[in-house]
Amino acid sequence: MSNVLQLSSVSVVRGRKTLLDSIDWQVRDGERWVILGPNGAGKTTLLHLAAARLHPTRGTVDILDETLGKVDVFELRPRIGLSSAALATQIPEHEKVLNVVVTAAYGVTGRWNEAYEKDDERRAFRLLNEWGMGPLLGRVFASLSEGERKRVQIARALMTDPELLLLDEPGAGLDLAGREELVHRLAELAADDAAPALVLVTHHLEEVPPGFTHAMLLREGGIVAAGPIEATLTQENLSRTFGMELDVVSRGGRYTATAKDGAGSANAGAKAGAAQSGAPASS
Ligand SMILES: Nc1ncnc2c1ncn2[C@@H]1O[C@H](COP(=O)(O)OP(=O)(O)OP(=O)(O)O)[C@@H](O)[C@H]1O
Ligand SMILES: [Mg+2]
Repeated sequence: MSNVLQLSSVSVVRGRKTLLDSIDWQVRDGERWVILGPNGAGKTTLLHLAAARLHPTRGTVDILDETLGKVDVFELRPRIGLSSAALATQIPEHEKVLNVVVTAAYGVTGRWNEAYEKDDERRAFRLLNEWGMGPLLGRVFASLSEGERKRVQIARALMTDPELLLLDEPGAGLDLAGREELVHRLAELAADDAAPALVLVTHHLEEVPPGFTHAMLLREGGIVAAGPIEATLTQENLSRTFGMELDVVSRGGRYTATAKDGAGSANAGAKAGAAQSGAPASS
C-alpha cells in the first residue's frame, strides 16, 4: 500500500490562533477515514490542507507523493476530489446540473466554453446517474433541494477520477431518508476496490458509513485519537472529544451517540449560560 496523504508535524496558525497544532497523519491507499470533532476543531482546515487548497504554517504535507510547496497545485488538484459547502457557493446560480459536474474536468465552476469533450459529458452523465440524479440533469443547480445538491457535488468531486476523495459534511441539511440514502451510497463507495481513498468529515456518528476503516477525533486543533475505526470511536475517546459524557452504541457497522443521563442538560445549561443569562440549572 502506498501513501496517499502524509502530514508531519503540521501546524496552521492565523494571527494568534493555532487552527491545527502539530498534526501527524497518514492515509494509505484503500483506507476510508471519518473525521469527527466539535465546531471549530479544525476539520475543514485539515481537509483544505489535504485538498492542496491551503499551505501549512509549519511542517510538511505530502499528497499523492508530492510535497506541498514543491509542486504546482494546479496539477495536483485534479487528482483530488473535494466536496464542501464553500465550493458549492462558487457554483453560478443558473448553472445546469450536468455542467456543474462536467466543469470539474476543467477545474472551473462556470461553463464558459461549449467545446467540452463528448467523453467528459458521458462521464458526467454516468456519475449523475450513479448518484440518482439522472432525471434532473437539465435542472438549474440553484433549484435543487439540499440533498440533491449534495449528490451533484459528490458526482462533481468524482469527475476527474481522483485518487483521493474529500467530503466535508456531505450529510449536512439532509432529512432522515436523505441521510440514510447517502450513508448507503458512501458504504457502497467504501466497498468498491476501485474507489479512491476517502476522507469524510461529519458531525454525526450516525453518518459514519459501514465499511469505513479509520477515524480521527479532533478537538481544538489537536488529535484526541486516530487509527482503526473500532478502536478509535470509543465512548471514552468521543466523550473527551466533545467534552461531554456520552453513551456510544455500535451495531451492524453503524454508530449512535447520546448524552449520558444528565450530561446533556448540564452541558446545555453551561452553553446556554455562556450565551444568555438565566439559563436553567441542571440537576
Ligand atoms: N483565517 C482565519 N483566522 C483566524 N481563525 C480562523 C481562520 N480560519 C479559520 N479560523 C478558525 O479556525 C478554527 C477551525 O476552523 P475550521 O473551519 O477548520 O473548523 P471545523 O472543525 O471545520 O468547524 P465546523 O465543525 O464548525 O465546520 C475555527 O475556530 C475558525 O474560526
Ligand atoms: Mg468545517
